[in-house]
Amino acid sequence: MKERLVKLQAEALSALQQSQDLKALQDVRVSILGKKGALTDIMKGMRELSAEERPAIGNLVNSLKDQFEAAFALRQSELQQKAIADKLAQENIDVTLPGRTVVPGNLHPVTLVSDEIVDIFSRLGFSVAEGPEIEQDFYNFEALNIPKDHPARDMQDTFYISDDLVLRTHTSPVQIRTMLQHQPPIRVIAPGTVYRRDSDLTHSPMFHQIEGFLVDERVTFGDLKGILTHFLKEFFGDRLEVRFRPSFFPFTEPSAEVDIACVICGGQGCRVCSGNGWLEILGCGMIDPAVFDAVNYDAEQYSGFAFGMGLERIAMLKYGVNDLRLFFENDLRFLKQF
Ligand code: PHE
Repeated sequence: MKERLVKLQAEALSALQQSQDLKALQDVRVSILGKKGALTDIMKGMRELSAEERPAIGNLVNSLKDQFEAAFALRQSELQQKAIADKLAQENIDVTLPGRTVVPGNLHPVTLVSDEIVDIFSRLGFSVAEGPEIEQDFYNFEALNIPKDHPARDMQDTFYISDDLVLRTHTSPVQIRTMLQHQPPIRVIAPGTVYRRDSDLTHSPMFHQIEGFLVDERVTFGDLKGILTHFLKEFFGDRLEVRFRPSFFPFTEPSAEVDIACVICGGQGCRVCSGNGWLEILGCGMIDPAVFDAVNYDAEQYSGFAFGMGLERIAMLKYGVNDLRLFFENDLRFLKQF
């Protein structure tokens, strides 16, 4: 028994020394002290020893165990140090290399304009609503007092998906969707993408509008003029001149178009304003009673106004951009300037 222990001691210590990594070291430990380890085995066999033999062998076993543990701990810390040193040697970082620059993006000019307009109307108590870009005939036309045979349907150059589905030609259907869901008083601003079969220097088949409308008791055309004038001055500057010109939309009565003094020449007359000093900026009017009928509002009790404007056009005027296509080409040299 004694020889066996001495031999085991020599073997165990040399196995520890020969382990080249922490995994191998752990395996050695298991082979000696694990459930089926060699030393464990011997300790189990001690029962069979005679009473005289037992204390001496017991001492020997204990001291072997202590020695093994100590040698194990030593080798373990050696191997840990070695692992760290190896890792450091492999993963050396060249701190002189230039860093990778993160180029921050920026918002598209149309988004900037939309956000600013929403912001101005939010301060006036309007909340934001949205609607689908694929729209039913009912919301895009019918409920807005544009029946099937109405000439305004040609005016809009509609993309039809089916007899009943269109790519919305304006953001006005959001009026209908909102009014069907909420009772007055309502104040809503609705930015969104719209589509028309139209493509040239100043028209794109996809563009953006922002719609606004307000319904309550005793709303007048004076309220409409006051709010829109306030908005235009907030947006383009306090000294801006504004004029309201009679116009026609099927869903408003009376209707108007709003012009601002040309932001390029200040009203003198230039190429941008075709020499007349004014720029058309938005369409508006008092919501037609036929629209209130379509959403089951009592036109005797309520009145309201609505307005809509093209965001690309406003962005062009605000930033002095002379080609609409620049907004859709995604050329970073252009987009980075905002
Ligand atoms: N929807 C109209 C257009 O696209 C704009 C408008 C909106 C006019 C609301 C009056 C009231 O031209």
